[in-house]
Amino acid sequence: MTSRILLTGGAGYIGSHTYVALCAAGHEVVILDNFANARRSVPERLEQITGRPVRVITGDVRDGAMLDAAFARHGFDAVVHFAALKAVGESMTRPLDYFDVNVGGLTTVLQAMERAGCRRLVFSSSATVYGVPDETPTPEIAELRAMNPYGQTKIIGEQMLGWLQQADPRWAVGILRYFNPAGAHASALIGEDPRDIPNNLMPYVARVALGALDRIAVFGDDYDTPDGTGVRDYIHVEDLARGHVLSLARLVGSGMGHVVNLGTGRGHSVLEVIAAYQRACNRHLPHVIIDRRAGDVPIYVARADKAAEVLGFRTEKTLDEMCASSWQWVSTAEGLT
Ligand code: NAD
Ligand code: UFG
Repeated sequence: MTSRILLTGGAGYIGSHTYVALCAAGHEVVILDNFANARRSVPERLEQITGRPVRVITGDVRDGAMLDAAFARHGFDAVVHFAALKAVGESMTRPLDYFDVNVGGLTTVLQAMERAGCRRLVFSSSATVYGVPDETPTPEIAELRAMNPYGQTKIIGEQMLGWLQQADPRWAVGILRYFNPAGAHASALIGEDPRDIPNNLMPYVARVALGALDRIAVFGDDYDTPDGTGVRDYIHVEDLARGHVLSLARLVGSGMGHVVNLGTGRGHSVLEVIAAYQRACNRHLPHVIIDRRAGDVPIYVARADKAAEVLGFRTEKTLDEMCASSWQWVSTAEGLT
C-alpha cells in the first residue's frame, strides 16, 4: 500500500538511504531538511538514483506553522523522523541546542501531526540509550541510561512517544534503536559525508584510506574484548534503511507500535574494521594505539531477534560490504558540494 510520507532529515546520511528504500517500496515521500548537516546536492543525487523528481521542503522541524502548511498540502499518512543533532561530544558543549532540536523538534512535529490527524511515526533512536549495558548482546528490555546529553534526548524522545501512545491509542510509533550504521549506497552517489574531521571510526578510516589523514588512532586496546579494542555492531546503511520500510509497514498495516534494535547481532572490533577496510581499498592503513576515549563503552552488540520477529527484519550485508561501499563512495565523492 502506498503511503504519503514526511521524511524529516531526509537529506542526511541515514535519511537519504531511507528515501531511496521508501521510494523503491512504492511510497510517496517528501523530504523536510534545513541542510544544517547535509549537502545541497543530495536531492539531485536522489533524483539520479530513483529516476523521479524529489520533493524537498527546506525548513526546520521546530517551525510548527511550516509543518501545518506541509500537512495541509501533502496530507501525509506517516512521518519518519530523522532530523536531529547527533554528535556526542558536541552535545556536552552545546546541550541546550540538543534539547532544542532533538526534544523540541520532536515535540513540534508531534503537535503538527496531532493537528493534522496523522498519528503514525517512525523515530530514530540509538543504541546509546543503553549506556553501559549489563548484558550483551543487548535486548530491548535493558535499562535505559544516558551517558551524555545526546543520549538523554533520545531517552526523552522514546519516553514521550511511549506516554503519547498510552494516553491516546490512536497513535502508533516505531522506535528504532540503531547500532552503528556504516557503508554507502551501491550507486556511490550518496553516503556519509562529515564536514569536519570525523569522530566516528568508519568515516575516519575512510579519510586515512584517501590519504587525507595520516593514521587511525585506535582508542585503547585493553578492553575486555577478544583483541582488546572496542567492539560494535556495524550495520549497513542500506539494511538499516530497509528496517524503516518494514517498521512503517507494521505501523500502517496493523497499527501496532514497537521498540526494536536494528543491528546484525554480531560485533566487530576496531582492528577488524581496519583490516576489512584495508581489503576494500587494497592499501595498508597505518594505525596507532592510544588511550581509551572518555565515555566509550567496551561493547555494543544488538540482540537482533525482536526485529526479526516483529518486523521480519534481517540484515543481509557484511562488514566487508560496508567497507567496500564506503570506499567506493569516498573515493569517487571528492569535491562534493
Ligand atoms: P545526519 O546529520 O546525516 O542527518 C540528520 C539530518 O537532519 C541532516 O540532513 C540535517 O541537515 C537535518 N537536520 C538537523 N537539524 C534539523 C532541523 N532543526 N530541522 C530540519 N532538519 C534538520 O545524521 P544521520 O546519521 O543520518 O542520523 C539520522 C538520525 O539517526 C538522527 O536522529 C540520529 O540521532 C540517529 N542516529 C544516528 C546514528 C549514527 O551513527 N549515524 C546512530 C544512532 C542514531
Ligand atoms: N574508535 C577508534 N578510533 C576512532 C574512532 C572510534 O578507535 O578514531 C573506536 C571507538 O573507541 C569505538 C569504535 O571505534 O570502540 C566505534 O566508535 P564510533 O565513534 O564510530 O561509534 P560509537 O559506538 O562510539 O558511537 C556511535 C554514534 C553514537 C551511537 C552509537 C550507537 O556516534 O551516536 O554509535 O552504537 F549512539
